[in-house]
Amino acid sequence: MAATQFAANTLAARPAAVASRPARRGLRVQAAAYNGAYAEELVATARKIASTGKGILAMDESNATCGKRLESVGLENTVENRQAYRELLVSTPGLGQYISGAILFEETLFQDTRKGTSMVDELNKNGIVPGIKVDKGLHPLDNSNNESWCAGLDGLSQRCADYYKQGARFAKWRSVVSIPAGPSAIAVRDCAYGLARYAAIAQNAGLVPIVEPEILLDGDHDIDRTLEVAEMTWAETFKYLADNNVLFEGILLKPSMVTPGAEHAKRSTPDEVAAYTLRMLRRRVPPAVPGIMFLSGGQSELESTLNLNAMNQSPNPWHVSFSYARALQNTVLKTWKGEEGNVEAAQAMLLKRAKANSDAQQGKYTADGESAEAAKGMFEKGYVY
Ligand code: 13P
Repeated sequence: MAATQFAANTLAARPAAVASRPARRGLRVQAAAYNGAYAEELVATARKIASTGKGILAMDESNATCGKRLESVGLENTVENRQAYRELLVSTPGLGQYISGAILFEETLFQDTRKGTSMVDELNKNGIVPGIKVDKGLHPLDNSNNESWCAGLDGLSQRCADYYKQGARFAKWRSVVSIPAGPSAIAVRDCAYGLARYAAIAQNAGLVPIVEPEILLDGDHDIDRTLEVAEMTWAETFKYLADNNVLFEGILLKPSMVTPGAEHAKRSTPDEVAAYTLRMLRRRVPPAVPGIMFLSGGQSELESTLNLNAMNQSPNPWHVSFSYARALQNTVLKTWKGEEGNVEAAQAMLLKRAKANSDAQQGKYTADGESAEAAKGMFEKGYVY
């Protein structure tokens, strides 16, 4: 189907682009949402990733963070060790039953497995869409409360074109908001505007943007304060996504769940987390968005799966699913420990976690048979991804 047909069929209810009408003096000329050459493909990719029982494996840790993980099981941070670990993940047989997309770090997108196939081909063989982290990390935001801004817009258009050529079909950009730091108005605005600019650039290069303003778990605030900050952050994010003419049908969101701060005295039950998180999403996210793919943010494997399950006890306007890194990989890494003989057992652990979250996406997960390891929290103060 050509892009114009796509517009006619899928977005028929939308008013024609005002930009094509002659400008009248005193009237603001506004363009319509992205409807370029990739529009149809973006919608198809987003829908494929957000399909029933499926979620995303986030394995895009920077080399430094991946190194810290490897060191935690006694391995050196070498390119060979990173390659062996990531090869284990992408080539897990049957993973595509539960995982529809995998976010890669640039090194992995352009890397081969040790047997000489490309990592991208391994994912495609498994029916998993390859994705790419495109931001360039967090930097201090001057004149704020020690907050940060996310770099990476310079040259992004060319980088996205190169990533598409290499087989990536979606992208991720992670910006953060800190509740104990305020958050200050400039930090929230910068986070929201950066995400919107990135989303527009990614769509123009054929990559479905994952929009991720991570509201950090750090702090001793209660759940109502998190709700307030999340509503404010998403309101600004959607304002700028709309201002930048981003096609909502061709994006995915990666929110934090609405929980109390990690150092708050009271923990919330999964039902409470689900009620707060869904309230926030219903108030802020249009149903045109196909998928909500949560980050785990330092919750334990068990907690993040239980919370997701609680959110899928009744129908939602969007696909409500997962895009976990720590909550999918923790026991996998501990099982593997760099031993060739442990690869099968580690892949079995990955399948187990992926299936648990697939069940939770469909609201039918039970915690029967979960290990004590899966219940261990992974929160780290000031975590750097
Ligand atoms: P966690 O699930 O470990 O929070 O990581 C997800 C992610 O991609 C953060 O950007």
